[in-house]
Amino acid sequence: MIRAEGFRTVRLPVRFYSHADSRPPYTINASFMERVRQVTQWATDAGLNVIIDMHHYDEILDDPAGHKDRFVAMWRQIAETFFNAPSSVWFELLNEPNKALTNATLPDIYEPALAAIRQSNLARPVIIGGGNTSQLDSLRDMPMPDDPYVVPTFHYYDPFDFTHQGADYITPTPPLGATFGSAADYARLDADLQTVRDYMSRTGRVPFIGEYGAIQNISLSQRATYYGAISHAFASIGIQSCAWSFTNTFHLSNNSGWITDITSVIATTTD
Ligand code: GLC
Repeated sequence: MIRAEGFRTVRLPVRFYSHADSRPPYTINASFMERVRQVTQWATDAGLNVIIDMHHYDEILDDPAGHKDRFVAMWRQIAETFFNAPSSVWFELLNEPNKALTNATLPDIYEPALAAIRQSNLARPVIIGGGNTSQLDSLRDMPMPDDPYVVPTFHYYDPFDFTHQGADYITPTPPLGATFGSAADYARLDADLQTVRDYMSRTGRVPFIGEYGAIQNISLSQRATYYGAISHAFASIGIQSCAWSFTNTFHLSNNSGWITDITSVIATTTD
């Protein structure tokens, strides 16, 4: 269904830590790992790139040192499971680091996890995001491992009060009613494109937008405006993007199938 709609990549958020022992050697449940392997295989067979993303590992955000060994052990196991997967399968170390995981502290967990992955996957692309939930500004001082196969990511939900209006998991919840499309909104988007251009010329790396989107509380026409504007703007400077999401409160599909008012306006680059 995803490939048939024209998408090339699926980012697969996986809550590995809920299925791994809390004590050494931190074994990931075999049938859960098999399920991830099966879904990855289906996507691969459909011709999609797959990003295996460690999502919602909330406990490591409060106590990185206490969870480092477990994080590294999980990545060692995931890497060994997928060591012979095609190069279209990518790893993403951790979704939206924040709290105690800042750009200053992230290398403490990223470097050993990457080293563990490299023992079995020498050239597997590995995506890393910066602190502060990987917002665009996190690129400014995001530490980059000395590894040519590491790809930086950021998430784009600006203006946040528009994209997350009524999101009850945000405190305080942004009120309903914000709209997108003013001259100021587009000026900000232009400035954000410049931030990305500056990052690319400074580092020589091309980042990737792992998530952008607008919540279901917003009218369909406003959501479509946002998905179209953001995807086109970043595609125009060569930045690939993943729309969030297939299903959940930012859904692009429902029980009747795709919400084509949105999927039809999504653009991406061709290379
Ligand atoms: C992050 C969260 C996810 C949420 C999304 C938009 O990916 O992990 O739960 O839906 O951002 O807020």
